[in-house]
Amino acid sequence: VTTSPDDGNTKHLPTEITASTTPGGSSTGLDSTGKKKSKKKKKKKKHKKSIIDNGSADSDEDSKSPQPKSKSKIIVPAQGPLKGMLIKERTNLPVYQHRAEICKLAADNDVILVVAETGSGKSTQIPAYIYQSGMLTIFAKQAIAALKSRPKRKYGRTICVTQPRRVAAITLAKRVCDELGCNPGETVGHRVRFDDTTDVRGHDTTKIIYATDGMLLREAISDPLLQRYGMVVLDEAHERSLQTDVLFGVVKRAMAARQASSSSNVDSLAKLDDSNDDESHSDKDSETLRNMREMATSLGLPPLKVCVMSATLDVETFQNFFPGSAMIKIPGRQFPVQLAYTDVPQEDYLDAALKTAIQIQKYGEEGDVLIFLPGQDEIEDLATLLKRHFEDLEPDDAPENGANNIVQNIKGIGTSIDSGSTVMVNGVLICVLYAALPPEQQMLAFRSKPDGCTRKIIISTNIAETSVTLDGIKYVVDCGKHKSREYVSSTGMESLGVVDISKAQAAQRMGRAGRVSEGVCLRLYPEVAFDSLEETTVPEILRVNLAQVVLQLKGMGVHDPRSFSFLTPPSPENIEKSFELLGALGAIDEEMKLTSYGKEMSKLPLDPVFAHLLLQSSKFECVDEILTVVSMLSAENIFFRPGGRGDDSGGLAAKSAAAHRRFASHEGDLPTLLNVYKAWRKEAIYISASQPSKMRKKLEKEMINKKGPSSKMLHGDWCKQNFISGRALARAHDVRSQLSELCVRSAEKNGLAMDIHLSCNAEMTSFFQCICAGLFLQVATRLPAPPQDKKSSRAGHIPTTRGHYKTRQGKQSVSIHPLSFLFGRNPAPKCVVYTDLLYTSKLYIRGVTQIREEWLDDFEFGSLD
Ligand code: CDP
Repeated sequence: VTTSPDDGNTKHLPTEITASTTPGGSSTGLDSTGKKKSKKKKKKKKHKKSIIDNGSADSDEDSKSPQPKSKSKIIVPAQGPLKGMLIKERTNLPVYQHRAEICKLAADNDVILVVAETGSGKSTQIPAYIYQSGMLTIFAKQAIAALKSRPKRKYGRTICVTQPRRVAAITLAKRVCDELGCNPGETVGHRVRFDDTTDVRGHDTTKIIYATDGMLLREAISDPLLQRYGMVVLDEAHERSLQTDVLFGVVKRAMAARQASSSSNVDSLAKLDDSNDDESHSDKDSETLRNMREMATSLGLPPLKVCVMSATLDVETFQNFFPGSAMIKIPGRQFPVQLAYTDVPQEDYLDAALKTAIQIQKYGEEGDVLIFLPGQDEIEDLATLLKRHFEDLEPDDAPENGANNIVQNIKGIGTSIDSGSTVMVNGVLICVLYAALPPEQQMLAFRSKPDGCTRKIIISTNIAETSVTLDGIKYVVDCGKHKSREYVSSTGMESLGVVDISKAQAAQRMGRAGRVSEGVCLRLYPEVAFDSLEETTVPEILRVNLAQVVLQLKGMGVHDPRSFSFLTPPSPENIEKSFELLGALGAIDEEMKLTSYGKEMSKLPLDPVFAHLLLQSSKFECVDEILTVVSMLSAENIFFRPGGRGDDSGGLAAKSAAAHRRFASHEGDLPTLLNVYKAWRKEAIYISASQPSKMRKKLEKEMINKKGPSSKMLHGDWCKQNFISGRALARAHDVRSQLSELCVRSAEKNGLAMDIHLSCNAEMTSFFQCICAGLFLQVATRLPAPPQDKKSSRAGHIPTTRGHYKTRQGKQSVSIHPLSFLFGRNPAPKCVVYTDLLYTSKLYIRGVTQIREEWLDDFEFGSLD
C-alpha cells in the first residue's frame, strides 16, 4: 500500500477510486458530492454544535437519494483539514498521515485490516474519519435507490466500534466527543452493559457508538443483520477476546446476507461466506441465511463494512477468514528499548517488582515507570508497599523538588475510602490501573503530572499492554504473568488463574517504554524463561466455557454452533459440554432447539447460570432478593479492603474486616451481599429523610424511580464507616434497576409474569432453595476429616480438612476462599454452592452459600424441567 503524507495544512482534492475492480469490493456508483455541499451548509446552521465535519455525514436528512449510475465509481469526499477540537494533538498522530488512504480503502473494500502501534490513533481517529467522509450515508442512499418506497429507518449509517474492555469503550467515546466537540450521546456515545449513553437526541441519532464486544453480540441476537450499522470496527483484534472472536463470525454472516441484497456481486459473497454451501451447513442454517438475505433486500440495507484494528495482527489468519480484504500497516514511533532479565527466577514477583521500583527511583533517570502485575490484589498490595516505602524515606533521601514527607491528595480524589490507591508521596505519584477501577480513577494514570511530582509509577494489569495509551513511560517492569480464564472441558470447570504471558505480550509490554524517548524494560524473569514462553496468547475461545456463546448463537438463529464460521473453531468437545450445560439448565431441548426458557435466558445480559438463577426466583417467590444478589455479583469489589498485605499500620485492614463482619450471614456470601444492599437502601432512605424537604423530595423520587442514588448517598458516612465501596454499590443498584426493567419487559412480551416485587419471608428458606436451584451445577460437599491418630488428637490438632471440599461436577478438591464469609467456620458447612472458582496457589471456591443437601435431590444434572 502506498501512502500519501499529509502535513495537516494542505487541502485535499476529492479522491477518485474505481471500486468494481477489487475482489469483494462494493460495486456501488455514486454522484459527485458537489450538490450536497450547498445543502449541507443549511444543515450546519441547524445543528451547529453537534455535527462538525468536513464531509457529507450530516446529509442524512437530505430528501432525495442520488440515482445510481451505470458505471461504478465512488468519490470519497475531500479530506480537508480536521474540524472539531484538539486539532493539534490529532494531526500529530501517526494515522493522520494516512487518513485519505484509510477512507479510500474503506470505500473500496468490504473489509480492511489496520495494523498500527498502540497510541497511533486507530481507535479515536479512524471511526471519525469514516463518519466525516460521509461515505456510509452515500452507500445507504445507494442501497435504497432501487426500493419502491423509502424505508422507515435510516439503516446502515452508524459506525459501531467494539472494545473488549468496558473502560476503553467509555473513555474512547468521551475522548472522541471532546475531539468532535459534541456532548456525550449526541454524535458519539458509548454502550456497555448497564450503561448506554447513545441516542440522547432521538432514535438512531448517534453515529459513532463505542460498545463492548459483548453489547454488539447482544444486539445481534435481536438483529442478526446489524441493520443500524454501515460499518463495524472490531478493535483490539489481537487480544482475541471471546466475544470479539464470536463477532468475527457474526459480522461475516451479516455481511454475506447484506452483500447479496445490495449488489449482484455474487463472487465476493461466495468468498465471504465460504461455509455457504448446503453440504457444510445444516439445512436449517442455510434457510436462516436465505431469510436474512431476503430481509436485507426488502429493507434496502447497504453492504456492511468491517474494519479490523490491531496493534499486532496475525494477518494471515484474518486474510484467510476475510478473503479479499485490504490491509494497511501504519508505522508507529518507537525508540530503542534496552532489555534486561533477572539471573534467576523470582519466586515472589511482587517483592521483585517492589525492589526494582525502589531502585529505579533511587538510581534511575528521569521518566515514568509502568509495572505490570497480574491482578488487582497484587496491584493494591504493591501500591501500599511503595507508598509506605516512600513515606518512610528520610527527607535527605527524598528526591529533589519532591513534596514534603506527606501524602498529598490528588485534586478531585480526596481521602475518601473510595479514593483507591492513587497517592503522591515524596514527589512520587503512585497510580493503579485495572479494569474494575472506576473510570475516573483510571484517568489519573493518564493525566499529566501534578505540581511537585517528579515521577509517576503506574501499576497495571495487562490493560496497559495495548488497550490504553500511557505517555511518558521510560521504564517498564514486567513480571511475566497475567490472569487468565482456563476451562477444562473434561471436568466442565472454569477457573481464573495467574499464568505466564506470551512472547507477543512481552513484546507489547516492552514497547510501552519507547514511546517518547529511549526506554528500559526490566523483565523479572530469566532469558531462558522468556524463550520457553508461547509465541502468542491462546485465543480465549479455546480456553473458556462456551455456554454463553452457544446460547447467544442459538438466540441469533444459528441452529448448529458447531458449523458456525469461527475465526478459530473451538474444540467440538467444548461445544458439546456447553450443550450439556444448557440442556441441564433447560435452555435447549434434546434436539438442540432453544426452548422458550432458553429464549428468556438469552435475553438477560448474564451468564446462563445467573440468568437461570434469576428466572428461578419467580418459582421460589424471591425475585426481589435474587435480583439484588445477581446485581451485587455483577458489581465487583463491594467490600473495601484497604491496605493489602503491606498494611500493618493504622490497623485499617482489621478495622475493615470487623466492619464487614457486621453484615456477615451465617449462611454465606450471597445472603451477606443481600444484607449489605438492604442496609444501604435503608440508610439511603434515612439520609434522605434528614435532608431539607426540597432535597429530600428529590432523593426520595430518585429512590422510587430507581434512577440511581444521588452522590450524597454514595459518599455518605455510612459507606466510609462500613468500608463499603459506594461506587460499587451504586453500580449494583443501577444494574438492579436495569435487570428489573428487563424482567418486566420480557414478561410483557412473552406473557410470563415476573413480579419483581415478589419477596420471601423472614425465614428466607425459599431464598436459599432458589440459590440451590440456580447454582445446582456448582455444588461442593465437605470432605470427611481424616481419622485422627491418638497423638495428634491428644495434642489438640484440628483436622486439616476443615473447609476442604470436593465439587460434585468434575470431582475437584477445592477450598473455601479466605475472603469468603464462610472461611474458617467451625463446623464447616456440609454442603455448599459457589459462584466461581479461582486458582492461585490452590483451587478456591468463591461466592459460597450453605445449602441443605436434600434439596439437591430435585435437581439432577441433565434433568431440569
Ligand atoms: O487506538 P490506538 O491505541 O492506536 O490510539 P488511540 O486510542 O486512538 O489514542 C490516540 C491518542 O489519543 C493517545 O495518544 C492519547 O493521547 C489520546 N487518547 C486520550 O487522550 N484519551 C483516550 N481515552 C484515548 C486516547
